[in-house]
Amino acid sequence: MAIRNLRFEGDEILSKRAREIEVIDDKIKELAEDMFETMHKFEGVGLAGPQVGILKRIIVIDLYEDGEQYALINPVIVSQKGEQLVDEGCLSFPNKYAKVRRAKEVVVEGLNLQGKKVKIKAKDLLAQAFQHEVDHLNGEVFVNKCEAGTLETVTEERKQEIKEGRK
Ligand code: NI
Repeated sequence: MAIRNLRFEGDEILSKRAREIEVIDDKIKELAEDMFETMHKFEGVGLAGPQVGILKRIIVIDLYEDGEQYALINPVIVSQKGEQLVDEGCLSFPNKYAKVRRAKEVVVEGLNLQGKKVKIKAKDLLAQAFQHEVDHLNGEVFVNKCEAGTLETVTEERKQEIKEGRK
């Protein structure tokens, strides 16, 4: 396992569409492990391939709540409902936060690391995380879809407050 280098605001890979993964080989499994390790190191709740310089459709998510972690290959949001207006940040935009309008609930389909098709029903923060990460795979970042006037650059202290507020 290894910590991968994160890609940050201004890196053009963040605005590109990631490619489908056709074979889930050892390299992809290692990538997933590294993405978990990188996300945990920086205390993120989600990470997408392009954020570590890999233009492939893979995401990892961990809410640090009930021990449930997700690694999904070629994820697709197949349905969504409701709405939530949430504080959002991103490991590629350190110290930036904004209000983003997201669906309250989503159903996501994709493959797990064993290549098995999975269907996940998510709501609230988990739904938000899936939407944010799937956006990354489509070259979309949250600062381009946030509510007007809500984008702020925050101090470490305020960042901690926002993180605690979601629990
Ligand atoms: Ni992000």
